[in-house]
Amino acid sequence: MAIFGAMIGRTFSSATTRSLRVCVVGSGPAGFYTAEKMLKAHEEAEIDIIDRLPTPFGLVRSGVAPDHPETKIVINQFSRVAHNERCSFFGNVSLGSSISLSELRQIYNVVVLAYGAESDRVLGIPGEDLRGVHSAREFVWWYNGHPDFSQLAPDLKNTDTAIVLGQGNVALDVARILLRPPAELATTDIASHALAALRKSSIRKVYLVGRRGPAQAACTAKELREILAIKDLHININHVHLQITSMDEEEMKNNRIRRRVYDLLSKASSSSQTHPSSGQPELHFTFFQKPDKFLESNDQSGHVAGVNFEKTTLKGSVGSGNQIAAGIGQYEDLKCGLVLKSIGYKSIPVDGLPFDYSKGIVPNIRGRVLSSSDVDQPVEDGLYVCGWLKRGPTGIIATNLYDAEETVSCISEDIKKKHHEFASIKPGREGLLQILENRNIEVVTFNDWEKIDSEEKRLGILSGKPREKLTNDDIMRIRLFISPWV
Ligand SMILES: Cc1cc2nc3c(=O)[nH]c(=O)nc-3n(C[C@H](O)[C@H](O)[C@H](O)COP(=O)(O)OP(=O)(O)OC[C@H]3O[C@@H](n4cnc5c(N)ncnc54)[C@H](O)[C@@H]3O)c2cc1C
Ligand SMILES: NC(=O)c1ccc[n+]([C@@H]2O[C@H](COP(=O)([O-])OP(=O)(O)OC[C@H]3O[C@@H](n4cnc5c(N)ncnc54)[C@H](OP(=O)(O)O)[C@@H]3O)[C@@H](O)[C@H]2O)c1
Repeated sequence: MAIFGAMIGRTFSSATTRSLRVCVVGSGPAGFYTAEKMLKAHEEAEIDIIDRLPTPFGLVRSGVAPDHPETKIVINQFSRVAHNERCSFFGNVSLGSSISLSELRQIYNVVVLAYGAESDRVLGIPGEDLRGVHSAREFVWWYNGHPDFSQLAPDLKNTDTAIVLGQGNVALDVARILLRPPAELATTDIASHALAALRKSSIRKVYLVGRRGPAQAACTAKELREILAIKDLHININHVHLQITSMDEEEMKNNRIRRRVYDLLSKASSSSQTHPSSGQPELHFTFFQKPDKFLESNDQSGHVAGVNFEKTTLKGSVGSGNQIAAGIGQYEDLKCGLVLKSIGYKSIPVDGLPFDYSKGIVPNIRGRVLSSSDVDQPVEDGLYVCGWLKRGPTGIIATNLYDAEETVSCISEDIKKKHHEFASIKPGREGLLQILENRNIEVVTFNDWEKIDSEEKRLGILSGKPREKLTNDDIMRIRLFISPWV
């Protein structure tokens, strides 16, 4: 690792008059909205945002689908926050390995954890480790050029069938990427390795499988409309599954999104051809099936060859919450060569952080971290949480804006009430830089990121894309090459 060292003073400045030293961990929407609200609410605050990646913006860069460029415009707003003279971005700095939570709490008055949900819910059924079974998160990170899964290389060539488990918006994203003509993806910021693999893909059939019915599908109408509109796509939905009960009706009465999704599915079912024409790509919506085990291939040892599903029925009453799927003891196999589990993300704890394993979140009340999952426990002084780590892996980008408002309002209330606790002079940025220097951590600044950004855009122009995403190694190399630390 290159030594950070003597250049520190030229890159970062820290006015001693700024008495409230704040560290935000994670530069996704929750992190940036928190920083923005803190800057507005506290003139005395100096905010440092750290991220384990050299690139900022979290899932806006590595989650949002490449064919949704309009969603990524929010990056402009986040960049304005990063340009505020009281805010600094420190990329390539990981909570847990570069610096510990207790160190951060020693050097900052306020620490806000907004590091998202970077693991997966698991099904816990046989065969989950077979080759060809991936989480949607891994697949998404692969096509979006996230450094952790750029090497995933999912096998898209030896099968014509993929099964996507789950029917949320992420499931729709991955199904759309598999089915959309690659020529249409070629003008997006999709990672070049993914585009090359999708061009050679032999996958023509995608099954989107839900354990509940069409009245409970977790996706939203806009995203459903988009996949249904893929050119020349054959849609298959079993008519029998579209028959709904009075309880479904009652559920939909209370949920307009579900009603719209159900109506769209019904319409798609009635307007689709009975059979696909030869070679036509197919999208099958399958309901009332829960995965029971993954089947191993006889020809390719250790590789998935299909999924065994148990049929389900819905149980429960509307009054007591959503109806849940219960197996009815009837099973059937569905053959495939690729499975993408899109059943939800999960957060990961770090050392010294209270964690609620059953909910997969940091226990908190309105963003104040609790010492344990018990609501009667005291709060951890100066420690807050925001975003998916606070509420679980649901919600769109804008949801994190309201979430950050709530967390920041708690911070402001606490500062007002317990002024003396926040008044101690903490080293903040200087303390952070000292620790990182001692550990030879190569920090990527926002200035560095903007050079990387320009380079990605320059490379993109050469291939007709908005940007060509660079790998981590390239980023660290380019960063040194393009006048570092100035
Ligand atoms: C595949 C997918 C597609 C989506 N598409 C859309 C969409 O089109 N429109 C929409 O509105 N919403 C979309 N969403 C939802 C939206 O992305 C989330 O609501 C939002 O990103 C959550 O914000 P966050 O800041 O909590 O987490 P994240 O965006 O995940 O940000 C967390 C950040 O923390 C960093 N980090 C992780 N661990 C550490 C560590 N130990 N130390 C330091 N940093 C760390 C990560 O690198 C990351 O930058 C999508 C979500 C997914 C999964
Ligand atoms: N374009 C966009 O705006 C966009 C794009 C992507 C993501 N997002 C947002 O990001 C968030 C996360 O999306 P997501 O799709 O990961 O999560 P999600 O919306 O919670 O969907 C999860 C899906 O997994 C299913 N599931 C969960 N556990 C299961 C199990 N054990 N067995 C079988 N199925 C199971 C759920 O079924 P049940 O309903 O039966 O539990 C549901 O269909 C959502 O809020 C989403 O709206 C938005």
